[in-house]
Amino acid sequence: MENHLSEHVITEFDRGVLLVRFNRAEKKNALTSEMYSALADAIEQANEDKAIKVVLFTGSEGVFTAGNDVADFLEGPPAGSGSPVFRFIDRMVRTDVPLMAAVDGFAVGIGTTMLLHFDQVFASEDATFSLPFINLALLPEAGSSQLLVEACGYKKAAGLLMLGAPFSARDALDCGIISHVSRKEDLMDDAMSMARKLAAKPGSALRATKRLMRRTREPLDERVRAEGELFAQQLQSDAAREALSAFMEKRAPDFSKFD
Ligand code: COA
Repeated sequence: MENHLSEHVITEFDRGVLLVRFNRAEKKNALTSEMYSALADAIEQANEDKAIKVVLFTGSEGVFTAGNDVADFLEGPPAGSGSPVFRFIDRMVRTDVPLMAAVDGFAVGIGTTMLLHFDQVFASEDATFSLPFINLALLPEAGSSQLLVEACGYKKAAGLLMLGAPFSARDALDCGIISHVSRKEDLMDDAMSMARKLAAKPGSALRATKRLMRRTREPLDERVRAEGELFAQQLQSDAAREALSAFMEKRAPDFSKFD
């Protein structure tokens, strides 16, 4: 069932997947403060509701989002960490719920940088990405000055951030900004099919896997210890018991009863 989180953000929940749609096509889905608040709310909802296994963001045909609303930048620029855009970025960075996107058309500014935080991103063949901050006399945001260097190396990242020129889905794939390129007509089905596969996994293990992968770089022995502690806990979980019993009983596991 559709739920309007705000005038321009619609969510739909079905079988473990929360679909979050930017719905401001007449302004190329440019993101306003009201929309950032709704997006932050959607992630908070997913954090709290264990029935939500995956959040899948999408836009409209031909445009994911043209980035921050430029009029908002002029009239009500974000001030401080309590502002809606920072709240959205903070929730996106901290969540352990897998985030996905299906991108068709333009993904500008934060429309591209948010993808660096997502776990799987599908884009259509003709999707176009850009990080135009330099052309607006602005700066990389949402951790992109670090994440882009990690994703594609310093030289490529510097080219994208210092020139601010649009780039293709193939370039975004080579850069590790997206994970899959789909034919335009298959985009939503491909993304939803992956989201459903993730939603069928044991949620507690899925979230703990993301938590581990999102830890900052650390000495390997510390990581091994952290994994070991969580592994031992997870081994005692009902979901693990179900998976191991299913293997012994030669049947498919059913995780639907577990978080
Ligand atoms: N903020 C506010 N309004 C925006 C917008 C944005 N980021 N992006 C597009 N719009 C509005 C346009 O002003 C226009 O409004 P109007 O119909 O009232 O004149 C409408 O959306 C359609 O945009 P238009 O530029 O005509 O569409 P297009 O298909 O020719 O180009 C883009 C699409 C995305 C390439 C182009 O709109 C663009 O470059 N937008 C700005 C992107 C940007 O700099 N974002 C900020 C990043 S920090």
